[in-house]
Amino acid sequence: MNKHIILLPGDGIGREIVESAVQVLKAVAGEFGHTFTMEEHAIGGDAVDKFGTPLPDTTVKACRNADAILLGAVGGPKWDGVPADRRPEKGLLGIRKALGLFANLRPVKGFPSLLHASPLKESVIEGSDILIIRELTGGLYFGTPSERRDNGNAVVDTLAYQREEMERIIDKAFQSARLRRRHLTSVDKANVLESSRLWREIVEEKKQDYPDVAVEHLLVDAAAMKLITNPNQFDVMVTENMFGDILSDEASVLTGSLGMLPSASIRSDGTGLYEPVHGSAPDIAGQGMANPLGTILSAALMLRHSFGMETEAAAIERAVRECLDQGYRTADLDTQGGQVTGTQQVTDAVVENLTVKSVSDSICGM
Ligand code: NAD
Ligand code: IPM
Ligand code: MN
Repeated sequence: MNKHIILLPGDGIGREIVESAVQVLKAVAGEFGHTFTMEEHAIGGDAVDKFGTPLPDTTVKACRNADAILLGAVGGPKWDGVPADRRPEKGLLGIRKALGLFANLRPVKGFPSLLHASPLKESVIEGSDILIIRELTGGLYFGTPSERRDNGNAVVDTLAYQREEMERIIDKAFQSARLRRRHLTSVDKANVLESSRLWREIVEEKKQDYPDVAVEHLLVDAAAMKLITNPNQFDVMVTENMFGDILSDEASVLTGSLGMLPSASIRSDGTGLYEPVHGSAPDIAGQGMANPLGTILSAALMLRHSFGMETEAAAIERAVRECLDQGYRTADLDTQGGQVTGTQQVTDAVVENLTVKSVSDSICGM
């Protein structure tokens, strides 16, 4: 197959980890006889520096015409002082909104050889396999423009949702649960927020359409606790934008590092955007020590969800598992006194392990 991929490396470690994923995609193309053309565009602070805006029109246009998009990360201290509408993060929020990518899938499943790498007990995390589904284009992130009042001493951020925006993400979650263990946990703050009460009503309505899926409601504070005390109770979790942002970073602890988590930002049809869950990690940028696996696994999600290449996606996931089994680890992972390897060595190991072998297990099974 011929596919056109837009690369948005962004800032900080973004360029290093996207470069790793490109090497893996090239290896997949070679092994499986595909042609992936790749074209880089600017986003975030990189785009602010080059074009004075975090999301140039040329970037949006290229993304609209692509088969899929791979993004590194945006943001960093260099741009902390710029006006709110030119912050690097606005570029990421803008491209998600422009492409209507309302569903963010964040699979959280540890690799066997990293069981010990989590600060949580192995007996607690063993067997955990969660799909967090985060609403991505509404809520607090996209309310009426935030403002300061009273000489800067009062602030307004608004949390707004339309029923339809809630319905489509809740439907997506039920459908995903059907493809997995048929258990859906809806996370909200219905004891306080009106938006959460509407969310809960819609989940109750929708569950009539999916009688084969078991549904539970959890308040977000309790969900945060249960996620790390008994992660095995979860299959699919669905929640609004900001709760999903926070819970997914927390859930990454199950896998040993935030650097391990991939994500897919999608809609029912059209171009998908694939990005690791973590940020631009300014504290380690430019040192060749970033964990590339979250981005490499995001490339696997791209192959599966946007290109229908299940065998190729599973081959990447297997190559990552083997690389970890062989002992390759960046410094963010517990190395148990072993050798710390850099971004390029880990990438080389994944590329080396890639061969044409179809496997049935995948990390998310969506
Ligand atoms: P972060 O995710 O960048 O880093 C948090 C911690 O995790 C840091 O100690 C970092 O070194 C470590 N880390 C993250 N990814 C890693 C990797 N691949 N390998 C090894 N270690 C890794 O979050 P932050 O420090 O709060 O934010 C830094 C900047 O990134 C901010 O500007 C923020 O807005 C931005 N950010 C961007 C995205 C994105 O582009 N999707 C996501 C989150 C944060
Ligand atoms: C993420 C990030 C972004 C978010 C920021 C950088 C806008 O934290 O993708 O999780 O909050 O959505
Ligand atoms: Mn986040």
